[in-house]
Amino acid sequence: MKIAVVGTGYVGLVTGTCFADSGNEVICIDKDEAKIAVLEKGKIPIYEPGLLEMVHRNSRDGRLVFTTDLQKGIQASDLVFIAVGTPQSETGAADLSTVFAVAKSIALAANNTKIVIIKSTVPVGTNKKVQDIVNANSKFPIHICSNPEFLKEGAAIEDCTKPDRVVIGIRSPELSEIFKELYAPFLRTERPLLIMSPESAEMTKYAANAMLATKISFINEMSNICEKMGGDINDVRRGIGHDIRIGFQFLFPGAGYGGSCFPKDIRALIHMANEIGIAPTMLAAIDVVNELQKELLFSKIHDHFKGNIKGLTFGIWGLAFKPRTDDIREAPALVLIDALLNAGAKVQVHDPEAMPNVNAIYGDKLSYCSKPYDALQGANALAIVTEWQEFRNPNFQFMAGLLKENVIFDGRNLYEPKVLSTVGFTYYSIGRKTAFPSS
Ligand SMILES: NC(=O)c1ccc[n+]([C@@H]2O[C@H](COP(=O)([O-])OP(=O)(O)OC[C@H]3O[C@@H](n4cnc5c(N)ncnc54)[C@H](O)[C@@H]3O)[C@@H](O)[C@H]2O)c1
Repeated sequence: MKIAVVGTGYVGLVTGTCFADSGNEVICIDKDEAKIAVLEKGKIPIYEPGLLEMVHRNSRDGRLVFTTDLQKGIQASDLVFIAVGTPQSETGAADLSTVFAVAKSIALAANNTKIVIIKSTVPVGTNKKVQDIVNANSKFPIHICSNPEFLKEGAAIEDCTKPDRVVIGIRSPELSEIFKELYAPFLRTERPLLIMSPESAEMTKYAANAMLATKISFINEMSNICEKMGGDINDVRRGIGHDIRIGFQFLFPGAGYGGSCFPKDIRALIHMANEIGIAPTMLAAIDVVNELQKELLFSKIHDHFKGNIKGLTFGIWGLAFKPRTDDIREAPALVLIDALLNAGAKVQVHDPEAMPNVNAIYGDKLSYCSKPYDALQGANALAIVTEWQEFRNPNFQFMAGLLKENVIFDGRNLYEPKVLSTVGFTYYSIGRKTAFPSS
């Protein structure tokens, strides 16, 4: 198939590349000239495991090309995916201005019948609005379909090529054959392609993210109660997770969720509900719990140092909103950094992939350490915000030699409190009793 993808960000680049990898001819379009120039040089502007090799191979074989020329890309394609951003606007609603502008440009550029698929996360009713826009601007029939994306950054290729399910929102049943053909290489293990109305498809994406965010805020609230009552949230997690109605997935306590999706999608859903007169009581609570959770590490630091933080130095491990990505949008680490800087502390950070993005925001307000242990040198304490695999088994003796005080504030429960106690650390974690040096 001949496919154009408009918006070559995390979603557009991954899905475009995966479609090319299954034999389609794909043109990835972006208005960002610098991004396209990087891609044309055989590099990628983001960190996503496995993506570089896949982009390289498909570009080399001529199935994947990049351009800023929207008209050329649209005219050469039959299927056009819209994968541009839908950020949070001031009201909390999803900002659809780019989706609408791109839809109009596609309609004006169309040289024959096109199937346009909205992959961006958009509120219920957007498909209909986009259909009206293209109808008013195109000389040719354009079918607007919805195909929300469920990939996770850090595992995006796996999610894209082996999805749990593919959701397609269409008005004309005959269009389903095209999607069955397009997705067949990814659904060979009998995962379903679910055909529904565009409105249901749009709502499915928000409902999925709301459910996942609910699980995170739920376990975080449980962990805060548990910690104060003297329980251990890891034991409680096991205790509930073995109930197959509950399960273990997405029930890890932490420093709050971030990223480009959950925070803005929950708020967009709250906005949608308010607009139609439904009080989104539960959704609002998910967001509030999460915002408070992002402040928890600083509050533990504040209490430990009895408010005397000015002039102290803190090492931070993990800046990305989750491991295996360089994405720092709404990352809990940024909340901690802001609080520490405001309190007059010096901050030394390490992240395997996200430091350039953090540097672009904070510049010389932070010290950037290319190795994890360098962030501990002369620091009063270490805070861990992202659970990169390489932080799980460090050399605690060596760390003790670098830190001024043996204190760790762990926002991801990477270590066993008893072990930390034996190696002489004061160890704060989430939903568990603080461990103190045993000798
Ligand atoms: N990132 C994720 O993990 C994820 C997962 C599922 C769904 N989504 C949804 O997918 C959408 C895209 O997310 P993303 O993270 O890939 O965003 P992104 O910000 O990484 O990428 C968006 C891209 O669109 C480009 N763009 C903006 N205006 C354009 C225009 N007029 N013409 C051409 N290109 C244009 C930008 O330059 C950018 O490269 C959002 O709606 C998001 O909610 C994201």
